[in-house]
Amino acid sequence: MNAVAPTPDTYRSHRNLPPVAGLCSFTEAMQPGMGVERCVARLKRLHYAFKRLHEIWIARLTAEPVYELKMAFSLHAYYAAEHVSALAKRVGEMREPPLGLDAVPDPALEIFFDEIRAAPTTATLLVGIYEHALPALAAALARYRHDTNLLTDSPSVRVCRFAAAEVNDLLDYGRKAVPCLVNDALRQEQSPWLARLTELLTAAGELDGSQPPGPLPARLHSARPFVFDPKPRRDERFPDPYNMAVHAEVFLYDEKFAARDKTLMMLYKRLREIDVPEMMASIIRETPGKPWGYYLDMTRQLWDEARHAMIGEVGFVRLGLDWGQLVRVNFTWSLALNTQLGPRERHAVLYFIEQGLMPKTGKRYEWEVGRDSGDEFSALGQDFDWADEVLHARIGRDWFVNTFASAKDAVAYGDQHWSKILIDWKAYKAAGLTQHYNWWPELYRAACARWGQTPDPRALAYATSYEVARADLKKNSASAQTPCSPPNKSSSIATPAISASKTSSRRTRSRNCAV
Ligand SMILES: [Fe+2]
Ligand SMILES: [Fe+2]
Repeated sequence: MNAVAPTPDTYRSHRNLPPVAGLCSFTEAMQPGMGVERCVARLKRLHYAFKRLHEIWIARLTAEPVYELKMAFSLHAYYAAEHVSALAKRVGEMREPPLGLDAVPDPALEIFFDEIRAAPTTATLLVGIYEHALPALAAALARYRHDTNLLTDSPSVRVCRFAAAEVNDLLDYGRKAVPCLVNDALRQEQSPWLARLTELLTAAGELDGSQPPGPLPARLHSARPFVFDPKPRRDERFPDPYNMAVHAEVFLYDEKFAARDKTLMMLYKRLREIDVPEMMASIIRETPGKPWGYYLDMTRQLWDEARHAMIGEVGFVRLGLDWGQLVRVNFTWSLALNTQLGPRERHAVLYFIEQGLMPKTGKRYEWEVGRDSGDEFSALGQDFDWADEVLHARIGRDWFVNTFASAKDAVAYGDQHWSKILIDWKAYKAAGLTQHYNWWPELYRAACARWGQTPDPRALAYATSYEVARADLKKNSASAQTPCSPPNKSSSIATPAISASKTSSRRTRSRNCAV
């Protein structure tokens, strides 16, 4: 019994295996670290920061004109939504119910994020998010790891580690994106505001409250209440956003056209999906009070739809086709939904369209076209588009259908509101907003040149617009025979045009989709 008890310096794990499950060294595991209460207070502030960033990206997405930023905001909002969930779950594990996660942890932090949400321009918004909020968040995550005990609080450390990895990705994006749109003159002009952001973080004792708080500065841009702008905006590569000249669905389902030619129309359909994040952002923004799972799922779908748009973009780039010149990507769908329907009605329309994409003639058909075309990228893009759509149908069931007595009622509600909106081909033309220029032949000719293929004269002559083509393809043919007949309300519905006709079959409806 004269064995010498090991000291921290002499203690060894069996055959020097990594100690404490490889989490850290004994020395680190013996550090005092923060207690549960302090950990929870910090985790709540991290949770608040991600929640506010999510809110800002969503609130600014629809009216942001720059396509690339819409796409980035979609991704970044999704990342933030995931970290909100993870942090909330962790707080719930720490003797915390009621969680109090809806409470504002610090008035200075609230103003800090309000100021960024109210940034007067795209450039100032980028500086606020990527040069102020995210660096503060990254520092807070790093400090958390430093200040907590890596063994006792290992689950929190893990949550923060994943969050830090993605915050670093966002910072990297910001380092590349900000110089593209921000110059010294703007920084100079906005210097009082930028200084105010720093003062607000100081007043909060930094984002995590780890430092002594300071006096609370006044609001600048956020002195006026924030008003969400539901009107979609686009940049200069979308010069004719009311153009409804090319009816993608009629072409896609016409058996006389070749699969290869149809892949071009599918790229257009994918890129046009930029309107879905624009519309979904408005639903998320204008639907308060739901469990966080709702916002997480909806933001995931929003990001998927942005990804679908980029599949279209990449497809055009791959073919060497300048989509900004050759394609007229409209915003008539998101504009009409955002300005003519309430948020629940918009969700109803989204669900109504998506539940129609699952039958054999929907997303599977698009994938089959891609596969049959021999174009690997088309098949790949449609394969994932189809898989994503299955997830979206589930999201619709969980968060929309469940608010109805039955799935049938939910579908009927969507049908009813889808038929209610007007996207008026003639009115846009009469108002001088567009001439509905048929851009298809030029795009098709350019694609054929790339493919080294002689254009099919029938495809080249394609000129079916959303004026004469009814939503319901069965009725399209009848309508197309009398193209001068004035369209009724449903015939003037534009993109993913789905008739409200009770006689139209589910199979037919599934052919028309925006998402
Ligand atoms: Fe979808
Ligand atoms: Fe989609």
